[in-house]
Amino acid sequence: MTVHFIGAGPGAADLITLRGRDLIASCPVCLYAGSLVPEALLSHCPDGAKILNTAPMDLEAIVAECKQATNAGQDVARLHSGDLSVWSALGEQLRRLRAEGIPFSVTPGVPSFAAAAAALETELTLPGLAQSVVLTRTPGRASTMPEGETLTNFAATRATLAIHLSIGNLDNVIADLTPAYGADCPVAVVYRASWPDQQIIRTTLANLKEDVSENITRTALILVGPALAGEGFDESCLYASHYDRRYRPQTAESPWSSWQHGDD
Ligand SMILES: C[S@@+](CC[C@H](N)C(=O)[O-])C[C@H]1O[C@@H](n2cnc3c(N)ncnc32)[C@H](O)[C@@H]1O
Repeated sequence: MTVHFIGAGPGAADLITLRGRDLIASCPVCLYAGSLVPEALLSHCPDGAKILNTAPMDLEAIVAECKQATNAGQDVARLHSGDLSVWSALGEQLRRLRAEGIPFSVTPGVPSFAAAAAALETELTLPGLAQSVVLTRTPGRASTMPEGETLTNFAATRATLAIHLSIGNLDNVIADLTPAYGADCPVAVVYRASWPDQQIIRTTLANLKEDVSENITRTALILVGPALAGEGFDESCLYASHYDRRYRPQTAESPWSSWQHGDD
């Protein structure tokens, strides 16, 4: 029996992988992180499934549920918002399951930064402006940051920053980023990307505090960097007509010509 960790996506019920949906449908027990996982996803659970919101549970109680179910011959669907690779508490759960000898699988999901970029209809790595995306956060009540992982340090790269869990910390975000990015640097705040009540605020570092209304207090992503302007960028070589590449050799002498005929 297996505990299936499944990335449940950013909010819209149809932003889940087919594999994730089918696993939910196959498991008689479902544990879901209720603060962010959309209830609509629970409709994929089979009739009579035991469905538990883990928001009020601690780690011991969650692992105990997994143990009880698998001992009873039942698979478990364990749902977390977005993707499991960031801020999902996957690491600590897997460590306990490994120690208990309970088998598990991990199925990825659509992360919130990707849903936010889609809502903005933008690419976060625009040639000439940014070629890196930093997924980060600011310290919270329950989470300190490792030394060196500061917004000031990340700002020095002028990469695109996707700042999670920080909508209540705007003063520090602005103070730490303005010296490197400049007060007129574009910022987008996406509140509840892909949910029916999604909101998008496009602003600058200078106006961020003023433009984010006080009712946006959680579940928002702050995207910062020159790429958010969506203009003034170069075209990539990938589709440039003159660019010699494996899938589009420009001459018979191109090193890629022979590859196209099956040498690679
Ligand atoms: C505990 S983290 C979970 C991250 C998640 N594992 C992911 O892949 O995005 C929660 C934070 O992610 C961001 N977030 C999650 N879902 C979001 C959404 N639909 N729209 C905007 N931000 C979201 C917010 O910054 C929120 O405070």
